[in-house]
Amino acid sequence: MKNILAIVGLLSLMACKSTIEEVSRGVIAEEAMVVAAHPLAAEVGLKILEKGGNAIDAAIATQLALAVVYPGAGNIGGGGFMVSRMANGEITALDYREKAPLKGSKNMYLDADGNAIPSASRRGHLASGVPGTVAGHAAAFDKYGSLPWAELVQPAIDLAAKGWALTPAEARGLNSNREAFLEFNTIRPDFFIAPENQPWAEGDTVKNQELASTLARIRDLGKDGFYKGITADLIVAEMERGNGIISLEDLASYEAIWRKPIQGNYKNYEFISMPPPSSGGIALAQMLHAVEDLPLKESGFHSMESIHAMVEAERRAYADRATHLGDADFYDVPLNHLLSKTYSQERMMSFDLNKASKSEDIKAGIFEVAESMETTHLSVVDAQGNAVSVTTTLNGGMGSKVFVGGAGFLLNNEMDDFSIKPGFPNMFGLVGGEANAIAPGKRMLSSMTPTILTKNGELFMVVGTPGGSTIITSVFQTILNVIEFDMGMQEAVNAPRFHHQWLPDVVRFERDGFDSLTLAQLRNIGHNMQPSGNMGRVDAILVLPDGKLEGGADLRGEDAARGF
Ligand code: GLY
Repeated sequence: MKNILAIVGLLSLMACKSTIEEVSRGVIAEEAMVVAAHPLAAEVGLKILEKGGNAIDAAIATQLALAVVYPGAGNIGGGGFMVSRMANGEITALDYREKAPLKGSKNMYLDADGNAIPSASRRGHLASGVPGTVAGHAAAFDKYGSLPWAELVQPAIDLAAKGWALTPAEARGLNSNREAFLEFNTIRPDFFIAPENQPWAEGDTVKNQELASTLARIRDLGKDGFYKGITADLIVAEMERGNGIISLEDLASYEAIWRKPIQGNYKNYEFISMPPPSSGGIALAQMLHAVEDLPLKESGFHSMESIHAMVEAERRAYADRATHLGDADFYDVPLNHLLSKTYSQERMMSFDLNKASKSEDIKAGIFEVAESMETTHLSVVDAQGNAVSVTTTLNGGMGSKVFVGGAGFLLNNEMDDFSIKPGFPNMFGLVGGEANAIAPGKRMLSSMTPTILTKNGELFMVVGTPGGSTIITSVFQTILNVIEFDMGMQEAVNAPRFHHQWLPDVVRFERDGFDSLTLAQLRNIGHNMQPSGNMGRVDAILVLPDGKLEGGADLRGEDAARGF
């Protein structure tokens, strides 16, 4: 076995500021690393790397383990995106986003008077898009997998069948969803329902035999173990019991798609990120282009000037997102225009150093008070230098809240990422129009931003995060924390975040993370500053000048870096 130079578990599981300040240096590894949202999943990925599996193998095994131990976002009933850069420089973007079912339609979430019914796109059977995750894993494996497929799936089966100990946050998550699980399921999901008056607690062992059986079918039959046969029949039976619309045809016809990644430059760095149906890569490119020529470094980290400039870049990129972005297979996304550096820099000509701009074109979006962060990201680098950045999601926490009866996994509520009515905000307050309207077989617009950076042609960073609409701004700021503000990976991940998404016209900032003088200065020039809870859970890897890897596992969650 390879010499393990650094395996450091992150000590605190609480998202607590003093802890974040104490852990400013991440796990350091000599050769290879996985950073993911749950320690058990990161360990599964590490074992695959130690066995000689490559970064794609490790990413698949880690995602499947997350589907067991991190059910709020890790999934086989959702979808995601994988951006990879192989050691030989080959780059790819794999789209396994959910699709609208064939029986879906533009006005399916409107009542007879044309009013939006957001509850239907957010919870219950009608909220689910056709899942893409397993097709994504199979496609990634067919192209790049090196270990036998069964060895990548087996660790997740073992976790589900033998059980795993709940972390504090997982125990809280299951307890807080108890009522929703009882309300929205046609068959009671007993494996996650604690006995009455005896809530789950840290350390309790949970098993999910139904999920173990589903995963065993995936191990034995690959993609067909999910999209055909027993699992597909169970999904459709669940739909019929709950008045959902996903059909056998939807499942059998689902395909993951290899897409051309978004590529661009920021100074002497190149970024590689996800194209539509994610808005992530385009919006990230726009924001980086918008600030590239501004003196961020001289202004200083979290100075009024740097925050103001970055907020104005965010505002403009999100305004374009609302109008221009959707599934490019259905809508003509003006990619070249949006990605032109000149365009983003021209948009900043209205930027006034001493005054906030106003976002007042269309009806304002509305933030839910408790925004869900339940997407999940993982970053992997293997000993050969292959790098993988994966963001995957059920959308809201525990998705639609609906388990597929007899199959043990949750279905997504990704339909809410469509614009269910022009200008009507989704659960993240994001608005959209025709570009992101529902159509049968169309993929809903995402903010997921799995990203890889190179510097002078060499791997530099692997980065991404959950966080709904805040994903893109969290990735943007983490990158600039390293490049402009000279932070290491963990420090850049720890740094407090802010977010502007055009509508509503507010800057949200992580409460307690910003000094009061800077906040007052920003208010004075017209920004509507609003304190918020945590934003994002960035999991990232930085290649240090000596070639070692520094993991940044976000202490806002229970995330962990493991490496050797
Ligand atoms: N469901 C969150 C996103 O895809 O942006």
